[in-house]
Amino acid sequence: MPLVCVCSPKGGVGKTTMAANLAWSLARAGSKVLAIDFDVQNALRLHFGVPLHDGRGFVARSEEQADWSQSILTTGGNIFVMPYGDVTEEQRERFEENLVKDPHFLRRGLDTVLNYPGLVIIADFPPAQAQRLKLCRH
Ligand SMILES: Nc1ncnc2c1ncn2[C@@H]1O[C@H](COP(=O)(O)OP(=O)(O)O)[C@@H](O)[C@H]1O
Ligand SMILES: [Mg+2]
Repeated sequence: MPLVCVCSPKGGVGKTTMAANLAWSLARAGSKVLAIDFDVQNALRLHFGVPLHDGRGFVARSEEQADWSQSILTTGGNIFVMPYGDVTEEQRERFEENLVKDPHFLRRGLDTVLNYPGLVIIADFPPAQAQRLKLCRH
């Protein structure tokens, strides 16, 4: 399962644009691609035709859904998107706390997608060190 993390300590440098274009290119070349948004700005979905008013996302639902794959949206082709979702500041803080406190939180949330055969995952990060989310060490 190839996992590509797009990260940089700076904002506004093209991470989301790069993640979206990478996802589209790999899908066009025949891969089944899942684009995951780890940025509270929740902008990645907009590159895949998800409307602005659609606030669904895995962080928005992470308190009810241990398996984040239930928040995957289809785009009609072989690209799938897992948006962050529209969240309150409190929801974002609780999500980040869970990431830090519960060593299994990330693994449990991503287990289904990480074990999906042949899936290429492109992960778009907020402007911070990726290790804050522990994903690159997965
Ligand atoms: N290669 C590029 N050349 C010019 N502008 C770009 C390029 N990549 C991204 N942008 C623009 O820069 C801005 C920030 O891009 P974005 O992908 O949102 O950055 P980040 O995710 O790092 O915050 C957007 O307006 C985007 O359209
Ligand atoms: Mg971005």
